[in-house]
Formats: sequence, structure tokens, C-alpha cells
Amino acid sequence: MSKPTQLDIPFIDLAAQRARLGDRIEKAMARVLDHGRFILGPEVADLERPLCEFSGAKHTVTCANGTDALVLAFMALEIGSGDAVLVPSFTFSASAESVVLAGATPVFVDVLEDTFNIDPAGLVAGLEAARAAGLKPRGVMAVDLFGQPADYDPIVGFCGENSLLLIADAAQSFGGSYAGSRVGTLGTITTTSFFPSKPFACYGDGGALFTEDADVAALLRSLRVHGQGTNKYDNVRIGMNSRLDTLQAAILIEKLSIFEEEIEMRQAVAGRYEAGFTNGADGVIPPPIIAAAVSAWALYTVRISAEKRDGVRAALAEQGIPSVVYYPRALHQQPAYAGCPHAAELPASELLGHEVLSLPMHPYIDEAVQAEVIRTIVERGL
Ligand SMILES: Cc1ncc(COP(=O)(O)O)c(C=O)c1O
Repeated sequence: MSKPTQLDIPFIDLAAQRARLGDRIEKAMARVLDHGRFILGPEVADLERPLCEFSGAKHTVTCANGTDALVLAFMALEIGSGDAVLVPSFTFSASAESVVLAGATPVFVDVLEDTFNIDPAGLVAGLEAARAAGLKPRGVMAVDLFGQPADYDPIVGFCGENSLLLIADAAQSFGGSYAGSRVGTLGTITTTSFFPSKPFACYGDGGALFTEDADVAALLRSLRVHGQGTNKYDNVRIGMNSRLDTLQAAILIEKLSIFEEEIEMRQAVAGRYEAGFTNGADGVIPPPIIAAAVSAWALYTVRISAEKRDGVRAALAEQGIPSVVYYPRALHQQPAYAGCPHAAELPASELLGHEVLSLPMHPYIDEAVQAEVIRTIVERGL
């Protein structure tokens, strides 16, 4: 039997977006090269203002990347040594790493098997584990995994009842919303990442924090420049070096003009996947989106039983279709976090690494290519 012709499709197609923007990116970069203010040049504030408008947050403070954004959040909220932050175990390592970098301890809690997001009902177990370890619970980190906002209402309620701060790790969900509010307004502080594969992304590293509190925003602006006071050589606190490059800000300004439309396009792509799978492929569970949420669809991640998942991957690879397992192992099972407390049981976090599979996802994916991805999974993979 002849081998099928291999497709050559990208997992995320940044070139399609670039072609759409034409020479706008080059022109924006050239303007920065001409004025030469590479650190905190005018484009940084020119980006932060429309990001407030887009997200609905009162204050946006950009920084060097999404990991720093989380560390800066903990520094601003004075969460550090002896403190515990409840973190979902099924997430990218930076969520928990930032807690450790801030001097505090992540305490892992379980996620919901269907949405992949933190299980509000599992927070009590996290609180108990933190107290049993002699830590002071200070915060909850809600991670909006794969683009879908976590179920914020019960999490906000839990934080209120237990005097905890809520840090929203929205590295993957900027552009999404929950109960009519855009991501950026859902936590005490919300953070995001502009890493190239994120829904709203630059051409390098970048990140931002969003807050309603003017004092917190002022603190963050100081912290991102070595804890500066009235000027750079007036050091009033320990901070770090974490600024968004002016060049990246200039790129993001151009990309913001098409972002709203791209989010819509992502909904259409997700809709086609969902229709393709529910119409025939038993064994592929498309990601359910909770009624209150609009996902930014950073990734389209299905679940396939552990016995079949790797076969499906192989069938896709044979056709030249990339797929990725985000994330193969829960954080409480990683050597780096072996010393961190966790809830007694984390069954969903432990299961998902064996079942998840992320498929090609970006606003510009061709319908015929998407149909081929679905066909390959349904007809050859399962
Ligand atoms: C959930 C989550 N948190 C934090 C980060 C860290 O962002 P960055 O890579 O910009 O440091 C990422 C990015 O990959 C992420 O996916």
C-alpha cells in the first residue's frame, strides 16, 4: 500500500498572521530603531493604555515575561517565606515555580477532569495540607488552562471566606472572559504571557499584570525597575529587572488591532473541531466550555483514553500532523516539587497526563486541513 502524502502543517501558524499584518510590523519596529528608546520607550505606555481598554482592567503593567509577572504579583502582595499559595497540579511549571521564586510554597490541589481547571471543591483539602505543613495560606492561583477561564465565582467565594488573595494566571487565556468580564479583571492581580505561541503574543518574551488597585500598580511599576523610587538610582525596595522591550510593545500594538477578530476566528476553529468529534468519534472527548466562560483557545486539547492516545498521536504524525501532550506529568509528581505539600488525593491531575492531546490550533487554520486532522483521528487513529 502506498504511503499517504504527508501534510506539512504547523501546530501554530505565526506566518499566516504575519502575512496578514503586511509591513506594519516592520514599520513599527523601524520607528523604535529610529527613536532608540529601547527600554520603556513610548510604545510601552502606548500598549498598556489600550490593554486596559481591551481587558477592562483599570491598570496594566507590562513586564519581561509571564513567569516574572507572577513573581512580581507575589512581591507586590507581599507573599513570601512561610506563606502558602494553592496551585493546581495540572499546569505549566511556571505557575508553581513563580511561587517558589517569590520565597513562598506552592501547595498543590486537584483540577476538574473535564475542564482541566482548578477544582473549587478541592481547595479545602489544599488549605488543610498547607496548615498541616505549618504554612500560612495566603493565596489561590487560578490558572486558565488552554485558554478557558477557571470557574471564578466559587473560587472568589472561597478566597473571601478564607481571607485569601486570588492570583489569576491568565498566561493562556488573555482575550477570554468569564460571566461577561474579560480576563484581566477576575483576580486580585491577573498575569499574562506574550510568549510567541500564546493567543496574544509578541516575537520574543513578554508579559503583563492587570489590577484594579492603583497602589498595587504603582508598586509593580517600581518592582519591575529594581524597586525604584522617584528615579532609577533611588532604590526604595528590592525589585527586579523585568521590563517589556519597547520593540515587543511596538509589535503588540499592531497585533492588538486584529486580536478581537482573531479571538472570534478561534471560536470558529474550536466549533469545527467540536462538531467533527461529537459527530462520530467516540473516544474523543472535546473540551467542554463552562456556561460562564469564553475561551481564548490558546490550545485545543481533547481527551482520548490512555490506551488509545499514543496510537492517535502516531497516526497524526504519519500524516505530517503535529500534536503535543500538554502536560505529561502533574507538578506534584515532578522531582522539582517533591518537597511541596499537596492535597491527599489528586486523581484528575494524575490521570490527565495520560489522556490529553493538543491539536493544531490557530485562527488561520485552513478548514480542509482541520477536516483532515479530524478524519485522521477518527478513521486511522482510534
Ligand atoms: C500557565 C502558564 N503560566 C505561566 C507561564 C509563563 O509565561 P512565560 O513563558 O512568558 O514566562 C506560561 C507560559 O508558557 C503558562 O502557560
